[in-house]
Amino acid sequence: MSDPSPAAGGESPSSRRGPLRTGVVREVIGEALALRARTTGVDVLDVLDTGGGSGNFAVPVARLGHRVTVVDPSPDALFALERRAAEAGVADRVRGVQGDINGLFEVVEREGYDAVLCHGVLEYLEDPADGLHRAVEALRPGGALSLLTAGVGGAVLARALAGHFTEAREALVAPDGRWGSGDPVPRRFTAQQLTDLIDDAGLALVSVHGVRVFADLVPGGLVDREPGALEALLKLEATAAVLPAFQAVAPQLHVLGQKRG
Ligand SMILES: C[S@@+](CC[C@H](N)C(=O)[O-])C[C@H]1O[C@@H](n2cnc3c(N)ncnc32)[C@H](O)[C@@H]1O
Repeated sequence: MSDPSPAAGGESPSSRRGPLRTGVVREVIGEALALRARTTGVDVLDVLDTGGGSGNFAVPVARLGHRVTVVDPSPDALFALERRAAEAGVADRVRGVQGDINGLFEVVEREGYDAVLCHGVLEYLEDPADGLHRAVEALRPGGALSLLTAGVGGAVLARALAGHFTEAREALVAPDGRWGSGDPVPRRFTAQQLTDLIDDAGLALVSVHGVRVFADLVPGGLVDREPGALEALLKLEATAAVLPAFQAVAPQLHVLGQKRG
């Protein structure tokens, strides 16, 4: 019997399931970058990943051939980013900079980027609208903003399915979408709140996607055992992602905006 372990050169079940967590978002970003490259006539774009952490998204973007600057306050995350970029053979296209979105222009240039990613950061900011404005200021006119945050509905569903009904209700009614004082996430958003933020920041709304609508609810073993199940689930995720009914219960929401001008 063959050994599927990564050490034996095979793919682990959790890495095989990676596209379920990030596939929808990566595809939207890939298309936005391809469009930007076509409209500007520039093949190698400048991309900023604010709060990019260890490079979940920055490294795949660099693999598309673009130059990525990651700004993150965590030295550990930046160290992991450096290692990951080197392993992927894109160290020359990924630059890690220690910094904070609140002091973004102490470390990067205003209007210096074709695309800005802001993934999993807005939840942790005291003033999300202010943080978003800074991200937009880093964009060149016509550039794309990729915003990914925790979704309220997904947390409500997850707490309810785990039998925590009071917490589920609390997440549903609390203005910040938290299920209680033990909730590790400081804030969650609805699709409407995100599209309002995008509008207030002066961006044109391009698309909204629900992320991991089913992936977090389906037992991993089921996906790993059944032949073709992963591919079928990926197709289901992609189809559901654009439907408001499923966005309303998604654990993560992705919004793409474009800077006017
Ligand atoms: C949930 S992780 C997301 C990492 C990555 N963007 C991703 O989607 O995989 C949040 C990241 O935001 C960073 N972060 C937290 N507060 C920040 C701030 N004020 N400005 C910029 N980054 C921040 C953290 O260090 C961490 O790497």
